[in-house]
Amino acid sequence: MTTNPHAVITLASLTLAGCLRYPHASGHLVRTATIAACLADLMGLDAAHCERIRLVTPAHDVGKLAIPDAVLLKPGKLLPEERQVIERHAEIGANILAGSADALMRLASQVAHHHHERFDGTGYPCGLAGKEIPLAARIVAIADAFDAMTESRCYRPGMSDDDALSIVSAGSGTQFDPGVASVFLASIPQILRSRKSAQALLDAGSEMAVVARFYGLSRNALRQIPRQARA
Ligand SMILES: [Fe+2]
Ligand SMILES: [Fe+2]
Repeated sequence: MTTNPHAVITLASLTLAGCLRYPHASGHLVRTATIAACLADLMGLDAAHCERIRLVTPAHDVGKLAIPDAVLLKPGKLLPEERQVIERHAEIGANILAGSADALMRLASQVAHHHHERFDGTGYPCGLAGKEIPLAARIVAIADAFDAMTESRCYRPGMSDDDALSIVSAGSGTQFDPGVASVFLASIPQILRSRKSAQALLDAGSEMAVVARFYGLSRNALRQIPRQARA
């Protein structure tokens, strides 16, 4: 399957919007994507599949564009009704990305929709369990949770890698696919190296420069659709 350049530009544009939504969003989105692609590779997925997972993962939280600041940026614990509001980002993100026949966009929509499902069926928004959850979403779920736990937020410092790894281990079979979790936990040096490699992308500077570098687009590509995409 060849990658449709129109789909890549669309994903890059939505990722840029996500990166601009709240401070340091680009760090989470780029690290999560890099870790997810590394994990997909460690799982034995072919290189093209790993690359598709890398390309779609930064759009996993695009539904947060629709979550009000009072909830998204609230310092401190969310009330149950606020948690319900933030949980809507999975469904909203799926809807933002839906409607395309393109395979990459469909994968992006699937990942946005299901990255908060839990292996035991108690996640959201659909309560899917086990292999009902698309494999890419099961992979992104671990990368996303690991990065979310270890990054500092405005209301709490980041957890240590060791503590976050213990939580991944404890969640194997309940929150996380045990097969994916065991590959993750057996390959910690590679995972941590991939996270470090994401930093090189983040050092590009502005959100636009980071997104252009992540998607391998030329400097002005987000303002101007490249020649090969003008079909
Ligand atoms: Fe999310
Ligand atoms: Fe996330």
